[in-house]
Amino acid sequence: MPALLRYTDRVAYVMDREMVVITPKEVIIKDSEGRVVKREPQRITWSLEDAEKGGFEHFMLKEIHEAPQAIHETLLGRLANLEVDGFLSEGVTSVKLVACGTSYHAALVGKYIIEEIARIPASAELASEYRYSQGATERPLVLLISQSGETADTLGAAREAHRRGCKTLAISNVIGSSLSREVDKTIYTRAGIEIGVAATKTFIAELVVLYLIALKLGQDRGTLGYDELDRLKDQLRSLPRAAQYVLNKADEIRALAAKYGRDTKDMFYIGRHANYPVAMEGALKIKEISYIHAEAYAAGELKHGPLALLTSSTPVIAIVAQDPTYEKMRSNVGEVSARGSPVLAIGTEGDKELPKFVDDVIEIPSIPWIFSPVPVSVALQLFAYEAARMRDCPIDKPRNLAKSVTVE
Ligand code: G6P
Repeated sequence: MPALLRYTDRVAYVMDREMVVITPKEVIIKDSEGRVVKREPQRITWSLEDAEKGGFEHFMLKEIHEAPQAIHETLLGRLANLEVDGFLSEGVTSVKLVACGTSYHAALVGKYIIEEIARIPASAELASEYRYSQGATERPLVLLISQSGETADTLGAAREAHRRGCKTLAISNVIGSSLSREVDKTIYTRAGIEIGVAATKTFIAELVVLYLIALKLGQDRGTLGYDELDRLKDQLRSLPRAAQYVLNKADEIRALAAKYGRDTKDMFYIGRHANYPVAMEGALKIKEISYIHAEAYAAGELKHGPLALLTSSTPVIAIVAQDPTYEKMRSNVGEVSARGSPVLAIGTEGDKELPKFVDDVIEIPSIPWIFSPVPVSVALQLFAYEAARMRDCPIDKPRNLAKSVTVE
């Protein structure tokens, strides 16, 4: 799409086993038997401006800064009545979230969000592994998450879910993508076009849709009372501000990226509960674009192996939100510091204790902890970006990686 936007905003998609004859006058789509196929073009709402850097040094930086807008647009018109693109929660008793890469990390966060808010069992699986697991007899709603809607493994998983007789729902950022044609229903994120290979604002928008789905499930199943539902909706509305709060700390984050990322070879990211997959996503971002080797661990797992690797030259990025795991995170950070590793925490504004047991803190605003993955992710994206910039890496096009992986 970015390549075409300069010339047109009308696009017709070509399906598998079709061919196209293009002449100066017309475009003819034919099937494998040579029969002409009629296909109406769709109008693309992305503008050319979206496909340009707009004064930012890299697309990735521009896209990180577009998080508040992506959240706002994704919520627009959906919150009041929880009307989410016709999604009906009827009959849903469990959810299986399936995806790849960054979208898989959204799926893992989604598991925690759905269980916490809607009290429905949820599990997340990599799309490339889904087909090997024998699903239980019970049929979950299968939620496939893909920014591009073109990832081959995710498309394969959608077909497999159908074969198993499951209802399928997709979350995608691209209207008319292949995935939307494989599933029963699609809910679109409205993050706008994303060009940087490393997904940023689309990850945030995927989280927003997962909150909406959790609220909808919670409302329809009666696990959320009116007051609780209203409170959660208000908090969702405030998320663009929470993301902006972190973006305003860009200078501070740049300085910390210099301190922790400039000459580092290995790094660890730790978190618990919903912020454990956020730690995984933080580690993925830094690997992808700065080429620093990074590993994410559920903080409770450190003592089962990784502690052996900690030294004064392995910084640890710890997500210490004010959530029910705070005290446990505190003791895990203690284990890390005892091995001499420097600790940079992502913590909450006004937390007076945190600076006493870590070396540095990037603050997120004080919001209910279940929403903390949004501002924490923005902080970790900026941190990875600044570290990569300092190391002179080709940020928008990291080596060996593609924006969309269409092979298995
Ligand atoms: C590629 C991209 C990642 C992305 C993953 C899944 O590996 O480089 O940024 O997270 O594919 O993409 P999808 O479009 O399915 O979300």
